[in-house]
Amino acid sequence: MVGSGVLEIWHDKGSTDTSLVIAYGCRYRYHAPTQLSLSYLTPRYLHSHRRVPLSQSLPISAIHATALLLRSRLPNTYIFTGNSLFSRMERLWTGSRINKNKKMVEHLQSYGVIRSIKVAEVMETIDRALFVPEDASPYMDSPMHIGYNATISAPHMHATCLELLENHLKPGMHSLDVGSGTGYLTACFAIMVGPEGRAVGVEHIPELVESSLQNIQKSAAAPLLKAGSLVLHTGDGRLGWPEYAPYDAIHVGAAAPEIPQALIDQLKPGGRLVIPVGNLFQDLQVVDKNPDGSVSIRSETSVRYVPLTSREAQLRG
Ligand SMILES: C[S@@+](CC[C@H](N)C(=O)[O-])C[C@H]1O[C@@H](n2cnc3c(N)ncnc32)[C@H](O)[C@@H]1O
Repeated sequence: MVGSGVLEIWHDKGSTDTSLVIAYGCRYRYHAPTQLSLSYLTPRYLHSHRRVPLSQSLPISAIHATALLLRSRLPNTYIFTGNSLFSRMERLWTGSRINKNKKMVEHLQSYGVIRSIKVAEVMETIDRALFVPEDASPYMDSPMHIGYNATISAPHMHATCLELLENHLKPGMHSLDVGSGTGYLTACFAIMVGPEGRAVGVEHIPELVESSLQNIQKSAAAPLLKAGSLVLHTGDGRLGWPEYAPYDAIHVGAAAPEIPQALIDQLKPGGRLVIPVGNLFQDLQVVDKNPDGSVSIRSETSVRYVPLTSREAQLRG
């Protein structure tokens, strides 16, 4: 493995598979003979979830050498600080905050992360700046610390999960957001299911529930919170929230060692659960409940999330 900071590259021994890793983002896989383009720190790498077409064949040792060279030329904090390509672009985007949020969405569309009009609309409607800490760069494509050993996920992960759940977030449907954190995705779900639907968030850190309520009150989802179709609860999300089950869509924002049975039980036949599963190596798994109650599970992509755990373990760090 090369690199311990933001960018890591490794080659699995005995496999033909080589992976690039963006910490807290996604792992990008492609097969040997490994191919690499020197444009690999373009925003494409920060957003795409697909196998990336690369232009020039290089042996593994050359990849390692290139990664080391890039590491020596770039500060370790390259992606997470205001020096990232994305945040430099963000500074060039002019106009109001809402306009910058729109540019972020357009950027994710141009890299193919957002393909659905509905997902673009909801991410334009819910301004990310209302959900990140005040000193953060709200439209940078990166997770950000929100305290209590938690993060707000990166915009490309929010977009990916919304894309995967779109057909299960139609008006009138029920959704559950486990590990709701800042409340960003719960607010998006609430807008999508509308006043006839139900968007439930469960978060186990009471202070985060409190601040997420404040965030949502400033957002376009405030009327839904007031009307009671959007609700946030403090609790252990591994148990789901039986009160409003069964759910058409369940999203889990933290990585579980295995899929909690309670979440499968609370999924409606025809419903979908999106959950990161694993410890050090994690996959974003898509669980579809069939009409007969059986489930089909597939892996969408490799990811890196904070763990779905007990409150005590999370606060210990
Ligand atoms: C990566 S954060 C994502 C938050 C949210 N999706 C966002 O973008 O703001 C994961 C969240 O899961 C919460 N969490 C972890 N384990 C939990 C559990 N057992 N029950 C409820 N929430 C949990 C953490 O406190 C954290 O807020």
